[in-house]
Order: sequence, then C-alpha cells, then structure tokens
Amino acid sequence: MAGQPIFILKEGSKRTRGRDAQSNNIMAAKAVAEAVRTTLGPKGMDKMLVDAMGDVVITNDGATILKEMDIEHPAAKMVVEVSKTQDDEVGDGTTSAAVVAGELLKKAEDLIEQEIHPTIIASGYRLAAEKAVEVLNSLAMNVDMSNHDLLVSIAETAMTGKGAEASKRLLSEIAVDAVTSVVDTNEKKKTVDKDNISVVKKVGGRVEDSELIKGMIIDKERIHSNMPEKVKDAKLLLLNSAIELKDTEVDAEISITSPDQLQSFLDQEEQMLKKIVQKVIGSGANVVFCQKGIEDLAQHYLAKAGIFAIRRVKKSDMEKLARATGGKLITNMDEVTSEDLGYAGLVEEKKVGGDNMTFVTGCNNPKAVTILLRGGTEHVVDSIDSALEDALRVVGVAIEDEKLVAGGGSPEVEVALRLQEYAATLEGREQLAVKAYAEALEVIPRTLAENAGLDPIDMLMELRSQHEKGMKTAGLDVYEGKVVDMWKNFVVEPLRVKTQVINAATESAVMILRIDDIIASTRAAPGPEDMGGMPPGMGGMPGMGGMPPGMM
Ligand SMILES: Nc1ncnc2c1ncn2[C@@H]1O[C@H](COP(=O)(O)OP(=O)(O)OP(=O)(O)O)[C@@H](O)[C@H]1O
Ligand SMILES: [Mg+2]
Repeated sequence: MAGQPIFILKEGSKRTRGRDAQSNNIMAAKAVAEAVRTTLGPKGMDKMLVDAMGDVVITNDGATILKEMDIEHPAAKMVVEVSKTQDDEVGDGTTSAAVVAGELLKKAEDLIEQEIHPTIIASGYRLAAEKAVEVLNSLAMNVDMSNHDLLVSIAETAMTGKGAEASKRLLSEIAVDAVTSVVDTNEKKKTVDKDNISVVKKVGGRVEDSELIKGMIIDKERIHSNMPEKVKDAKLLLLNSAIELKDTEVDAEISITSPDQLQSFLDQEEQMLKKIVQKVIGSGANVVFCQKGIEDLAQHYLAKAGIFAIRRVKKSDMEKLARATGGKLITNMDEVTSEDLGYAGLVEEKKVGGDNMTFVTGCNNPKAVTILLRGGTEHVVDSIDSALEDALRVVGVAIEDEKLVAGGGSPEVEVALRLQEYAATLEGREQLAVKAYAEALEVIPRTLAENAGLDPIDMLMELRSQHEKGMKTAGLDVYEGKVVDMWKNFVVEPLRVKTQVINAATESAVMILRIDDIIASTRAAPGPEDMGGMPPGMGGMPGMGGMPPGMM
C-alpha cells in the first residue's frame, strides 16, 4: 500500500501554501487599498457605484465605497473590515485606514522577499504601532467644548473634499450646534449620543436652506384639513395601534334583511369609533401621533374635537418622539392616562419644499435636535448627508476625548520620523520592520500630494525637513502646493481618528501576514445571493485590475 496518496480534504478543495498564500493575500489587500486611494484628501475624487439593481451611489467615503463594492476575496474582506471598524469607532478616517493597511502589507512583502520571517515583521509592526500611538498622544493638543471655532474647524476638515465642499462652513456650524446641544455631562465626563440628532432629508431648495431645529421633524402632514395647523402647549398621545375597527379574526357573515338593520349596524360601528376617540379626548391629549392608520370617520371626530393628528409615523420616529417629549408609547387605549402623554411647547405644520411637514419643538427633553437638510437633487442631499455624518461624528469624538492633532499629513510624517529614531535603538531584524512601518505611514502625505497633482517626492522631502527642524505640525497645503503649519491653517482632527487608523490597520496587516496556508473548499452551486456579483462595468474600477480573476 506504500505510496498510496491519502486525501484529507474534500475533492475539489483548493489549498495554497507558503509564499503563494502570502502573496495572494497581500495582493488582494493591496488592490482594495488601491481602489480607495484616489479619494483621499481635499482633492480626492469621488466614485460612482452602481449596484445590481441599477441604483447609483456617489461617494468619497472609504467605508461606503468598500461596502458597496461587494468584495469576495477573504483577505481583501479583512481590509474592508478595517474601514468598517474605523467607521463604527470614529466615523472618519475610513479611507486612511484602508490605505495604511494596504501599504503596511506592501512593505511587508518587500521584507519577506529579503527572507525576513513574517512573525518577525508582525512583532516589529506591533512594536511600531505602540510607539506610534505614544507619539500621537504626545502631539495631541487640548480642545474645550467652549472653543466653538476650533470645533467648527474639526467639522470643516472632516467635510473637506466631499460633496458638501461648497457649503461646508454653514454645515459645520450646524453640526457643531447640533452636537453641543446634545452633550451629556456627568461626573465630568462628556458623552455624545448621536441618536439624539436626527437628520431629515428634503429634496428641493438649496443646501444653504438647511437648518437646525431644536426638536423633531416628522415628514407627515395632519390628516384632516379641519384640524388646527398649530397647537401650543401640546400634549402628545403616542399611539402604537390603529384607530380603526378591528376586522374579525373569523370569517363571519352577517345577513341583513332590512335597511333598518343595515343602518343600525353602521350606527353601531360609528359608536365604537366614537368611543375610541372619546378615550383620546378623555386622556387630555390635543395631539395624536399614530404609528398605524386612523379611519376616516375617526379623523372627522378628532378634527371636530380640535385635535391635531398624523398617522403612519415611522417606528424609529415614534421612539425618538417618546424620548424627546417624555411620552409613553401606548398600545392599548383603555389604559391611557394623562401621565402617559408627552409634552411639547409647539406642534406645527409647515410647508417645506412643496410638502407639509410636522415640527415638534420646545420639547420636554431639549436634547433631541433635528437637522433639516436641503439640496437640489436626491444625490446631492445624500452625499451631503454622508459628509455631515462624518462631521457630526468627529465633533462628538472631539468633545468626548478633548484631544486634537493637526491634519494634512503632519502627524504621519512626525510619527514616521520618531519611528525611524526608535528603530535605531532596536536590535535584531525587528528594526527593519519598524523602519518599514515608518515608511508605510508616509503613504498618507504622499497620496494627499499625488491626488492634488503635486510632486510627491518633493513634498515629502520638504515635509521631512520641516519636521526635522521641529515643526511638528507642518503639513501639506494641497491648494497652494506648499508645506505649512496645519494648525494655523485650521486643519485639525480628533486624536482618536489617527490612533484608530494605527490600531485597526496594524491589527489586520498582522493578521493577514501570519497566514501561510489557505484552505478553501469548493463552493456549492452559486446561491441566489452569489449570482448578482458586480454589475457589468464595475470590473474596470481603477486599482482593481491587479486582482487576477477568481483568485480564491
Ligand atoms: N484642508 C486640508 N489640507 C490638507 N489636508 C487636509 C485638509 N483637509 C483634510 N485633509 C486631510 O485629508 C485626509 C482625510 O481625507 P478623507 O476625508 O478623504 O479620507 P479619510 O478621512 O481617511 O476617510 P473618509 O473621510 O472617507 O472616512 C486627512 O489626512 C486630513 O488631514
Ligand atoms: Mg475624512
């Protein structure tokens, strides 16, 4: 029996080992980083993503691009995860995180070629990351919530180069106002719950018409024109169930033999509806927000009682309304008391862009605010929304952490320089890995320069020399093509954005590096979710060309 091959894997399983496995994984991860690289920085471009249904998303946001791209390669997916984690943790820096992860792997590849073992590279990278975070912490400056202008600068930096560029000043002011009004201060620690800030998008008008409302906006109009348009000192009933007559569960048939009988049947129905409305009135409510339907006749009775009512309110809005007005969500009308009602200073219907919307202001809890976003077309509003989202997040993070660093590539150059010095103090081959890490970080200033059409080598030399002279905040003015003090240019970012990039990118690079064996079982016949894939034309995305077809 000697010489008989033994099969331990299912037939058709594919196994890639050693160098091949490593270089496949690294190539895939690099391709992902390359795909988002051109969007980095103020002069970065946008991408248009078309899904299988033909829906179009135009975005500059790293995490959104990678999510929409529907990536399949397992190692490439890890880079997508880096970007996603970055988005969850801080909301900004998602492109940087993917780009740094890709560059770390590219540098690692060179080292592997020089016969340096991946575990040595991994441990060197870990040392470097630790040091990098230490250096970043030492660069951080304090920001206080009361420093309004600085907070606006943070928001502006996050919005730079995105769809909202043209009106970023106004939107930044709105973002700062919104975040500062929802800050919770307890035991000296500040927290920002972004759930308290809603964004309502309304196509039409100009971006400049966007505004912050201290309260909530519900995109619904009152259900009956006889209802009051405005209710002061509003007592809100938040109803989960419908104001309708219930259909019987069983198929009942009622035989009616005379017109009188029909009339009394209808009368009875009317009475039942009247009773429900009586309960609403009895509770003392003068505004009803109903998550389900309200029958025509009930609408009429409510209007007659001078009650303002809207129906089919979204569940998420109902929950926010409950929080904002201090009301309870009521399911059973029989149990409602006046204590269950919410309070708002004013409930009012107003016309916005041709549609009527309901504004709820002067709430019990002033911590609920709404940003009303306006813009020419749906895509414009969507892209502004995503830029605003970044701004809201970074302002929140800055208020929570109270630590800032300058942007424009300055922290990366400074950290790289410090890492080079640190490398010199190390013995053994890890020194090379730390050096490689330092070089990898310079991908950020290099890409900022490239995307702005500047010479990356000249710019990097200039940046390094300024930093060596002690100008720790020297970064790239991409508009003028000069190296300037970013702090003076008001290009500032929360420290957490930068430390998160370091941590997430390092972890995933190390994880990918440590893999030397890929065992992939053959797929069963493609299920419906696998059939869609990338829509035609997506294969030609810049940077994705490097991935050989069907690599896994
Ligand atoms: N006015 C500016 N001048 C120079 N650099 C800037 C300026 N504004 C922002 N930057 C830099 O641009 C980079 C951020 O670019 P960008 O916002 O496109 O990507 P990201 O923040 O990494 O990811 P994303 O915003 O897609 O989540 C940061 O390094 C930041 O310091
Ligand atoms: Mg950004």
